Amino acid sequence: MGKVICIYNNQSESLKTTTVISLARNLAKEGKKVLIIDTNYEADVSLSFVSTIDNFLTSLYEVIMKDVDPSKITAAVHRYIDLLPANDDLIGVDIEVIGNPEKYPAPFNLIKEKCTKLRETYDYILLDTPSNFSLLSGNAIQFADQVLIPYAPDSSSLRSLQRVIKTIKDFSKRYHPSLEIAGVFAVKVNFETTLHQQIMQETRRYCVTESIPMFETFVANTPKTSGSLSQKPEHLSVYQELLEELKKAE
Ligand SMILES: Nc1ncnc2c1ncn2[C@@H]1O[C@H](COP(=O)(O)OP(=O)(O)OP(=O)(O)O)[C@@H](O)[C@H]1O
Ligand SMILES: [Mg+2]
Repeated sequence: MGKVICIYNNQSESLKTTTVISLARNLAKEGKKVLIIDTNYEADVSLSFVSTIDNFLTSLYEVIMKDVDPSKITAAVHRYIDLLPANDDLIGVDIEVIGNPEKYPAPFNLIKEKCTKLRETYDYILLDTPSNFSLLSGNAIQFADQVLIPYAPDSSSLRSLQRVIKTIKDFSKRYHPSLEIAGVFAVKVNFETTLHQQIMQETRRYCVTESIPMFETFVANTPKTSGSLSQKPEHLSVYQELLEELKKAE
């Protein structure tokens, strides 16, 4: 049975999508069969594999709102990686679902209900999420065994991380008691600045008090370069280390 990991943080540009793609590529190198579910209507993870979301006439939307079999929609984007894509149809889901409680009595269970059987096909299912707590990110967390939190340290980010962790814990208590917080994974770290060093120390202390792992592995801040970072070997090797840490914690 495949393991389901949701990559989530409210912080925008915290490498959620990059983390999903990089973990998938490393798992694929090990011969693991991976499904990526894109729950973000901006479809960044889908767009990293195709040039336009018009390639995907059907998406996660049809799965959760029209009862279409998800295995009919997944697209092979690599020998070992399939994608259940997003497109902008997902923008309307919150209103359709929240406005219709008779039809959707368990609004956070939509992805889980429709996608659980996919665990039989894949070794890993990775969910990319939007940068806010929405019906879709709630659905992604509800389907997951573990949530992994990529976190870019900056002057306001620790406060935001504390809110995110509180939200995940509140959600888990109410809807998904067996959810594990896999840990906080620092990204875009610049150890040359004392500010980053300080924030990293405070974050580690905070994670200890909350009994949440903080990974030793981190992604250094690198200037924007052309081409996809998630395909560069030095970048992928950091994610290989993250995978090793994740497996060790199992
Ligand atoms: N090591 C790095 N250092 C700095 N920037 C990076 C690094 N790796 C990736 N980036 C860039 O950071 C940006 C944000 O990355 P990404 O899209 O993965 O974040 P995200 O959390 O998914 O964002 P969003 O909130 O928009 O969904 C991208 O432009 C990406 O190319
Ligand atoms: Mg993203």
